[in-house]
Order: sequence, then structure tokens, then C-alpha cells
Amino acid sequence: MTASVNAAKASTRRRRRSSFLVVALALVTTGALWALLAPSGSAQDSTDSSEAVRAGRALYLQGCSSCHGMNAEGGNQAPSLIGVGSAAVQFQVGTGRMPLAAPAAEAKRKDPVYNQTQIDQLGAYIQAQGGGPVAAKVTKTQLDDADLAFGGELFRANCAQCHQAAGQGAPLTYGKYAPSLTQSSANDVLNAMRTGPESMPVFGSRQISNTQSVAIAAYVRDITHAKSPGGNRLGSYGPVPEGLVAILVGLGGLLVAALWIGARQKV
Ligand code: HEC
Ligand code: HEC
Repeated sequence: MTASVNAAKASTRRRRRSSFLVVALALVTTGALWALLAPSGSAQDSTDSSEAVRAGRALYLQGCSSCHGMNAEGGNQAPSLIGVGSAAVQFQVGTGRMPLAAPAAEAKRKDPVYNQTQIDQLGAYIQAQGGGPVAAKVTKTQLDDADLAFGGELFRANCAQCHQAAGQGAPLTYGKYAPSLTQSSANDVLNAMRTGPESMPVFGSRQISNTQSVAIAAYVRDITHAKSPGGNRLGSYGPVPEGLVAILVGLGGLLVAALWIGARQKV
């Protein structure tokens, strides 16, 4: 009697132990399969980007929402930022135009208030509010490999009427001006083209392809950083100021020399 009870108890214990084993084995197998099959990289990326969006929103609420609205919807002080993309944020904040200090005909380039990490976070937040052009990240190799002559042709056809042939800038109407491009990075050039700040038109990728826009950026880098073998550039304004200098310094110098010679003549 006791023997059979003991045997039954032992078999229940064994059964319980084996069902524990089955459950444990199932758990381990599921874990291993999950680890093998789960899309680990993208899970990590999406937490990274949602962290950037969250950090960007915090920065946005502090520094931008007073003008652009609590949800980037715009207000009577400033336009909506929905759909402007991280390219517009990189351009406006990276060139110090935003945050705007005081209303003016045109936001000026200043030293940036935010560092690059913060600008990326602000960009991620705005990008998450309806997309838009993504901030450019051109490499030095891409610029070095670009077709400079073609970039120059495109620049003269699309940009020189406002920024002048050497990118030195010029006034427009109503107190606005096309700024000099001497301080613009290649990414500034690309982001400005894709977002069309202020009275500058938008140059979309259907109008000017990515390869063409990189050629333009390379050309701008070339003309704004070019050495001038002919001496002082006189602001690169072309033949008129150069002629003026030739007349004042050249002819004026000859005149002074002639007078000096004439004064020394003993009569
Ligand atoms: C004092 C008000 C003010 C503040 C603060 C401000 N902005 Fe602006 N923002 C403006 C105005 C006005 C314009 C439009 C005029 C212009 O582009 O010069 C503008 C334009 C922009 C644009 C261009 C939109 C487009 O259509 O391309 C972006 C991007 C932008 N702001 C981002 C920001 C960000 C990001 C911040 C915070 C770091 C910020 N702004 C803070 C007033 C402000
Ligand atoms: C109709 C005139 C006009 C044309 C055409 C134009 N721009 Fe502009 N551009 C402007 C104005 C105005 C600004 C200043 C915008 C602001 O401050 O918000 C500007 C700003 C810029 C800037 C920013 C300068 C800085 O501070 O770093 C760059 C770069 C630029 N333009 C490049 C180009 C390129 C490249 C083209 C040709 C594909 C072009 N622009 C065509 C008017 C023009």
C-alpha cells in the first residue's frame, strides 16, 4: 500500500519536473529564436531616432515655440514648420538665422546658438512633423569629384542673377539682399537650394538633380575660396571698380609724376 502510494507520488514529481523542463526548454528556444530572428539593428535605430525627436521637441518648446507655435503649426509671428524638413532647420539654425532675435526684412547669418547635436535633434523633431527635404550631408570626395565647369554653368544660369558671378552677393528690393556666399559651407548651399529661404526660390530635385546640385556646391566652394593670382580682388565686383582703381591709381599716379617733373624744371 505505502509502496504504491510512494510510487505514485514519485511519478507525479517526475511528471512535474519534466513539465518544468519542457516549459524551460520552450522559453530558452523562444529566446534564442527571437535573438536570431528579431530585427535587432532597426529596433536600436528607431529608439535612437525617437530619442532625438523627443530631445528636439524639448529644445523646440524652449527656443522656438513662442514664435512657431506649440506644435510647429505657425503663429502670427512666424510661419508653420510642418513639412519644411530637417534641411530648413539645418540651414536656418546652422547659419544662426534662427532663433530670430528681432523681426527684420531678412534674417541675418550669425554665430549659431545651438551645437550640431542639438541642430540634428531639432531637425529630427521637425522632420517628424510632416517630412520635407532632409538635411544634406555631402562629403569632401563628392565635392572633389564634381564637374566644376558644369557647376559654373548651372550657377551662372540659376544663381548669379542674385548672388553675382563670384558669389559676393547684392541687394534686392525692399531692404532684402542676396547674401555673400563666402561663409557658406557646401551643405549650406545644398540646403538653401532645397528649401528656398526668404525670397530665394526653391530648387527642387526635379529641376536640379542631386549630382547637379553637388556640382554647384563644388563651384561655390571653388569661387569663394579661390586664390586670386591677379592681386587684390576688390570685392570681386568686376570691371567697373577695377577700372575705377586703374583710373585713380594709374592715371592719378602719372599725373602726380608729371606735375613733380614739371615743378623740378628750372626755367
Ligand atoms: C522671434 C520669433 C522666432 C523665433 C524665436 C524662431 N523663429 Fe524661426 N522664423 C521666424 C520668422 C519670422 C521666420 C520667417 C522669416 C524668415 O525666414 O526670415 C522664420 C523662419 C524659420 C524657418 C524657415 C521656414 C521655411 O519655410 O523654410 C525655420 C526652419 C525656422 N524658422 C526654424 C526655427 C527654429 C528651429 C527655431 C528655434 C531654434 C526658431 N525658428 C525660432 C521667427 C522665429
Ligand atoms: C531671386 C534671388 C535668388 C536666387 C536666384 C538665388 N538665391 Fe540664394 N539667396 C537669396 C536670398 C534672398 C538669400 C537670403 C535668405 C535668408 O537670409 O533667409 C539667399 C541665401 C542663399 C544662401 C545662404 C547664404 C549664407 O548665409 O550662407 C546660399 C548658400 C544660397 N542662397 C545659394 C544659392 C544658390 C546655389 C542658388 C542657385 C541655385 C541661389 N542661391 C539662387 C536669393 C537668391
